Amino acid sequence: MFSNFAAQQKSRLMILYVMGVSGSGKSTIGNLLSEKLNIAFYDGDNFHPEANVYKMSQSIPLTDEDRKGWLEALNFKAKELQNDGESGIFACSALKDSYRKVLSLGLKEVHFIHLDGSKELIKQRLQARKGHFMPPNLLDSQFETLEPINTGIRTSIEDSPAVIIEKIVKELEKKEFGLIGLGVMGKSLARNLASRGFKLALYNRFVKDLEEQVAENFVKEHDELNNSAGFENLQQFVDNLSSPRKIFLMVNAGKVTDMVIDELMPILDKGDVIIDGGNSHFKDTEQRIIKLSKKGLHFIGTGVSGGEEGALKGPSIMPSGPKEAYDIIAPYLTAIAAKDKKGDSCCTYIGEGGSGHFVKMVHNGIEYAEMQLIAEIYGIMRYVFQMKVENIASTFENWNEGSQSSYLLEITHKLLRKKEGNKYLIDLILDKAGNKGTGSLTTITMAELGEPATMISSALFARYVSAFKDRRDVYANQFLDVDKISHELNHNDLKLAYSLARRVNHQQGFTLIRTAAKEYNWNIDFVELARIWTNGCIIRSTLMEEISQVYATKTDMILEMRQQDIIEQLAALRSMCSLAITAGVSIPCHLSAVDYLNAHLNNFPTANIIQAQRDFFGAHTFQRVDDASGKFYHVDWS
Ligand code: 6PG
Repeated sequence: MFSNFAAQQKSRLMILYVMGVSGSGKSTIGNLLSEKLNIAFYDGDNFHPEANVYKMSQSIPLTDEDRKGWLEALNFKAKELQNDGESGIFACSALKDSYRKVLSLGLKEVHFIHLDGSKELIKQRLQARKGHFMPPNLLDSQFETLEPINTGIRTSIEDSPAVIIEKIVKELEKKEFGLIGLGVMGKSLARNLASRGFKLALYNRFVKDLEEQVAENFVKEHDELNNSAGFENLQQFVDNLSSPRKIFLMVNAGKVTDMVIDELMPILDKGDVIIDGGNSHFKDTEQRIIKLSKKGLHFIGTGVSGGEEGALKGPSIMPSGPKEAYDIIAPYLTAIAAKDKKGDSCCTYIGEGGSGHFVKMVHNGIEYAEMQLIAEIYGIMRYVFQMKVENIASTFENWNEGSQSSYLLEITHKLLRKKEGNKYLIDLILDKAGNKGTGSLTTITMAELGEPATMISSALFARYVSAFKDRRDVYANQFLDVDKISHELNHNDLKLAYSLARRVNHQQGFTLIRTAAKEYNWNIDFVELARIWTNGCIIRSTLMEEISQVYATKTDMILEMRQQDIIEQLAALRSMCSLAITAGVSIPCHLSAVDYLNAHLNNFPTANIIQAQRDFFGAHTFQRVDDASGKFYHVDWS
């Protein structure tokens, strides 16, 4: 009669290897387990080729070469069972780690159950055994070969068979994969994992009145989570995970990640693996790998990309860290990842250390620039070509059908068509782009490495400029007529263009110091600062003298300009930039200045496109032009 547990596990495909040295009781326990779980039992000895059986009967120890074919035969049989939708229990000594690797190849859920006992006890048992081809004097060589498991179920053979079976069943009832943090991405990844047949333990913290029984309720809400369990007690969560524990963190990068790691460390065991799926700084990941390895724990940092939908249906996954730890979690990550055109998993081992998080950071940098490029094209179509929103959407849709096709183009044409009543939602979204820090990390890192990925930094700063919505409004209101100008470039214009660009440069530099002073609590006297820069230093100038006067009462050198001056100088700067671009002369600083002013002086919103894209793929929310409270909204874009 098989147990309730066996009945519940009918849909679960497991391969169990009952392992240990000869005489440890593998066949006895294997048979009892087979009865208990209603899973067929196979004696590994029957898979030995004749030559091995003969060698063993002659007391000649088997070599790795002798064992190779045997292990492969067992693995082949296990895979055959798995493909036929059946579980199996095998008795097999599986003495070395490398043997266990061969035995596990291509198997979804595999457990090694080590029957552990002293040499004396096993010797006694072997001597009492009759009709077996393994002479007791081979035991020494078996003990020498045995590499104890650090992953799997270990049970002492001093217990009675009934107790051993009870212990094994209890271990098997545990969940195979844990996930902490049930935010948008955590929930989607959990459902993705469960839909591939993995049994999960899910943990979400308890916060009175705000986050209560989140994991328990989530498990109840989705059918695919039938075989999973929710917890809000970390110890219980950990106790319900089979060994080695594999725990995916989907919590906020930074301090929260460290807090969760610190809570977990004392209650985990050697060989357990923590996987950080957040957008963590790659240098933090490197530190965490070292910190955890000192306690015998593994740490893997992984980029996960694809937003909410990707996490649910198949993201791109970029893991890095110790390779042996990756091998433990690879079956899970490769199973839940998207598939490429050939059907291969979009998850691969990136490399050592924090390389996984590094490539995810650059992925996000490229993402920033891709989003900004679309927003810029939208700006030209909308404000220069004066195209209707519907026509812009159709243009993007067309582009997306050809060689330019991309996920971001796809969502952009969709989001442009979204209406609220008779208004396009895009026009109700405030053009103030948010960010979660990966673009700035990429920019800081490229500066450290001396690598000019200028499009990424430009995209980042475009978002930052958009965020100063109030300042942009002040500029736009003060210089209303700035667009009424058209201009033929003459030689004197270079001086005017140069003059305006310098003013922008000084304004940006002083504003940077002002922000730092606020952040770090420095009481800097800006008049004094400008004054000591009026002579002696390299950037001394007449402009600096002007700044030292203006800053006595004001903080903005652009707003101090006369309307007529800015009109003239801006016209010159724009013409000069156009000419240089057409002539192919590189003028990055002037371009940067003119763009900074263009972003401030005109009201041509494009950052609303970025916000809509972010909300579309990542539920990152946006503010609305018709709600001054600054409240954040999320819509269902489908
Ligand atoms: C992804 C996204 C994802 C997230 C970013 C957004 O690859 O799935 O990049 O990681 O949406 O954090 O970044 P910002 O909030 O900085 O735009």
